[in-house]
Amino acid sequence: MKKQIKLLLVAGARPNFMKIAPLIWTIRTHNKESAEKSLIDYCLVHTGQHYDEKMSAVFFNDLNIPKPDINLEVGSGSHAQQTARIMAAFEPVCLKEKPDWVVVVGDVNSTMACTLVASKMGVKVAHIEAGLRSFDRTMPEEINRIVTDALADLLLTPSPDADENLKKEGIPAEKIRFVGNIMIDTLVSNIEKARKSTLPKQLNLNPNDFAYITLHRPSNVDDKDKLTNIMAIIDDLAHQLPVVFPVHPRTRKMLDQYRISNNGKPNLNIIEPIGYHDSLWLTEHACFILTDSGGLQEESTYFQIPCLTLRPNTERPITIQQGTNKLTSLETLEKDFHSVLNCSPLKKNAPAFWDGKTGCRIIEILSES
Ligand code: UD1
Repeated sequence: MKKQIKLLLVAGARPNFMKIAPLIWTIRTHNKESAEKSLIDYCLVHTGQHYDEKMSAVFFNDLNIPKPDINLEVGSGSHAQQTARIMAAFEPVCLKEKPDWVVVVGDVNSTMACTLVASKMGVKVAHIEAGLRSFDRTMPEEINRIVTDALADLLLTPSPDADENLKKEGIPAEKIRFVGNIMIDTLVSNIEKARKSTLPKQLNLNPNDFAYITLHRPSNVDDKDKLTNIMAIIDDLAHQLPVVFPVHPRTRKMLDQYRISNNGKPNLNIIEPIGYHDSLWLTEHACFILTDSGGLQEESTYFQIPCLTLRPNTERPITIQQGTNKLTSLETLEKDFHSVLNCSPLKKNAPAFWDGKTGCRIIEILSES
């Protein structure tokens, strides 16, 4: 008899969508090619943590992800409110769908909330991007990572440092599988489309002659003095080369609240959030990147583009070992701008298993479970 397994795939916030997409493409192929042996049924649950068109729908279109089967529509709120709303809404879904596995990705509140619900119901949880640690518990994501990994039954890691972290935390080795970086699957599959982006034309950008900036972490944007200083430094940078800064809704809210404005300055493109292909074009062609995003640290490593990460730590140390990423601070930012603008091109291979085949490795493991 054919074996059939059912997966509940959970996505909630922008960085989740590019991690879920390759799973769906791989499941479709698996069901076509292995239909004799096993079938994978899935149900895509969107928690609604991100809901703006530019933070959510645009990625479903860009990445050819089917419309979610279920949208919990939880929206924004404090961490406790948002987590509680996701949990309360996800429990009946688990009860009704009776999945063999709940599959969660990344480190956002949706990841932790759905893991808590599934574990308490005795449903197995697979965590994609397990084991990353910044060792900084002031970051909400670090709490989400620790709780998710402590409860998950299968920990699918993107890099060997993640395996080490999990082993040190006492997670049994048989639960841990090094599968590589699933976001790179999405990157590899979309690179040609990204190269056709019309954004460079719209903004009059030339390859290797602009800086790409994204900042949204509470530690950078929630404090008035810090955000004011950051915007002043970015303004100075824009006197040296064009800058593209798509502004995350959290950052937009804080800029408006503190009445900080850099709009209208020549060479400083402060724009609305952009889609996946436009972001990939900017990443591949930037002179350098300034960010506090986890995803951009990894994508720039793949493209060998220098990245300055405005944080005191990173849960992705492999990007630093590869020589593409450097941690920076308000104090060192201007010096670091100077260094990256004058550095020679980087030439290193991508880390192991950042090869576009992580989705296949994951689906193979789950289909044999
Ligand atoms: C969340 C994740 C963070 C991830 C980021 C990527 C957590 C704890 N944080 O942070 O890890 O890097 O997403 O974007 O899960 N908002 C909108 N429209 C939206 C979504 C949010 O306007 O579609 C605004 C709301 O004012 C909201 C604020 O942004 O209060 C923050 O949203 P939230 O989901 O709480 O956290 P992010 O900062 O987006």
